[in-house]
Amino acid sequence: MSVDTVSIETKPTEPTTSTTKPLRIVVLVSGRGSNLQVLIDAMQAGALPIEIVGVISNREDAYAITRANAASIPVVTLSHVANGKRMGIKTFERHASDQFIAWQPDLIVLAGFMRVLSASFIENAPAPMINLHPSLLPAYKGLDTHQRAIQAGERHHGCSVHVVTAELDAGTVLTQGLLEINQKETADSLKTRVQKLEHQLLPWTILLLAKGALSLSRDQSIHEQNTFLPSTPLKLYLDS
Ligand code: GRF
Repeated sequence: MSVDTVSIETKPTEPTTSTTKPLRIVVLVSGRGSNLQVLIDAMQAGALPIEIVGVISNREDAYAITRANAASIPVVTLSHVANGKRMGIKTFERHASDQFIAWQPDLIVLAGFMRVLSASFIENAPAPMINLHPSLLPAYKGLDTHQRAIQAGERHHGCSVHVVTAELDAGTVLTQGLLEINQKETADSLKTRVQKLEHQLLPWTILLLAKGALSLSRDQSIHEQNTFLPSTPLKLYLDS
């Protein structure tokens, strides 16, 4: 198996015109925001038909806020700790829902967002919610994925974009990027390499969604959950 290029089998994309409306995106962040920056750059370069209509951070010190400010994107900070008091998840979600109403997103992107959201918030969100996770799901849900993959002697690692559901890192996987683990790999070196892959995978996945090559529709039949599922199955081939 080879790993350098990723190709995908989907239905053909619709021809786009200059009047195609950009996909309205809200990005949820907690930290550095390198993935947010990639989306900002692609939006500003006209490489992605998106409009980042707002950013929500649950941390006041997230560098992602600086990046959004520099791009004049509205930011709402819902700090998980303010004046020594912890903001409960319900309060966070109430404020975030108000922002969704104000911003009217077509897609909600969790890019390094580190709070666990409740089932009712996810199921009542006005748009599909996707998350970027640093592993080849379903392997290595949760934290410290790079270290765990090395310790387990894995030959491959990577990243996934998946639909957010109430169960952590368990929603339908939409796309994945994969790389080989080197013999002298450390958790830090692997993290750096996976992040480079993330910076390709996330905009590429959003491009597929924006162009309609990949679409998500609500499905209420699965375990009585009101969740989004892809209407177009994807097939990835990884070659080098
Ligand atoms: C990424 O590695 C992502 O996989 C994980 O959190 C990190 C966020 O990085 N969920 P950044 O804030 O986008 O730089």
